[in-house]
Amino acid sequence: MTTHSLEALRAQAAAIVRDNDRGAYTVPTKGLYPFQWNWDSCLTALGQRHSDERRAFLEIETLFAHQWPDGMVPHIVFHTPDDSYFPGPEVWRTGRPTPTSGITQPPVAGLVLRRLVETAADRALAEEKARLLLPKIAAWHRWFHAMRDPAGSGLVAILHPWESGRDNSIDWDEALARVPTDGVEPYVRRDTQHVDPAERPRKVEYDRYLWLVQRFRSLGWDNRVLHDASPFRVVDPAINAILVRSEEDIAHLARRFGETELAAEAEARAARARAAFDSLWSPDLGQYLPFDRVAGQLVTSPSVGGLLPLLAGLGDEGKRIAMRDRIRTLRSRVRRGVPTHDPADPRFEAKRYWRGPCWLIINYLLADGLDRCGFPEDAAAVRADSLALVENGFAEYYDPLTGEGLGGGNFTWTAAIVIETLATSAAA
Ligand code: DGY
Repeated sequence: MTTHSLEALRAQAAAIVRDNDRGAYTVPTKGLYPFQWNWDSCLTALGQRHSDERRAFLEIETLFAHQWPDGMVPHIVFHTPDDSYFPGPEVWRTGRPTPTSGITQPPVAGLVLRRLVETAADRALAEEKARLLLPKIAAWHRWFHAMRDPAGSGLVAILHPWESGRDNSIDWDEALARVPTDGVEPYVRRDTQHVDPAERPRKVEYDRYLWLVQRFRSLGWDNRVLHDASPFRVVDPAINAILVRSEEDIAHLARRFGETELAAEAEARAARARAAFDSLWSPDLGQYLPFDRVAGQLVTSPSVGGLLPLLAGLGDEGKRIAMRDRIRTLRSRVRRGVPTHDPADPRFEAKRYWRGPCWLIINYLLADGLDRCGFPEDAAAVRADSLALVENGFAEYYDPLTGEGLGGGNFTWTAAIVIETLATSAAA
């Protein structure tokens, strides 16, 4: 791309982030997602920091202002009423002063915070903000281990596919199939009024998503009992890798600020998780796999979730090379990568949300991991795929076989990742 077209791309991306800005938080896209989402907001801050560092911190501060007393940071904050989304606060009924959902999402806040601090133009502002956010992020990480790993295995489980952020990934099919659907209250989906149903999860999944919400609601959203009461309990390698990385990033910041106790605690949690990670490795597939805690077995689903451990430098050198090779293989099977599921798997669907399409935030995290593990050329190739994909618009996700943009349009985190990639990587 020429310098001129890169500049035009950056300007378009910045305009999208501004247009979706609601003052103290940013909506992922108009219509389809009219509230604040947890990991969307944190990753959006990566783009916002290039024009306004104070605004970038505010995005995360607003999210953490709605942290639960037990430490959980909810996956949606319903700041203002809007019936263009389902399920809204009347379904969740979590009883929070500002309504929120009752589940969480991948804990990227720690890794984003470190990046914000280390690259800040205004060091004093960044340190002041980070000092206040650190104990809140640490409380969230502590919550993950206490509530989602009550037996102390070192790895945390998700209790709902939405907690993974990769809602209808093939990773969850087997565990979700065991969730009943009896007693699900009648409902009308809104997502399929905004987006072609062929690009969204199926009804069979939505029924189960809602059954789980109703079950947790009936237990008063008491996280001390939800883990053991849930028929869906899956250890996702991606969320655990993100957690390890964020633990290490907050520990790094804490040491820098002289918060040695917080640092040591985060390091200890990360070390326990590292030691447990080998149990998720599949030598046959050359990547990590989810572990179904209810069935007591690994799930044979070679998705991108099992490659995100690169982000935390997990595994020995042989495992890291195997994961890099899996990314090469996945990219070789499509026009643009990285597909979120292996196209060689008959369950792959090129257009359906998390069952195959490419997502720029996943590419961003994979490229970061590839760099960290010593594979800069592979990282550059993944970033180049991302920039090629946005030539088809700032979509929510993309068909890896054709490059077509899918799902919601003018999507905030897609735009934010483009801004961050253009500003920081040699690929641009
Ligand atoms: C949705 O509604 O599709 C969201 O991904 C759930 O968080």
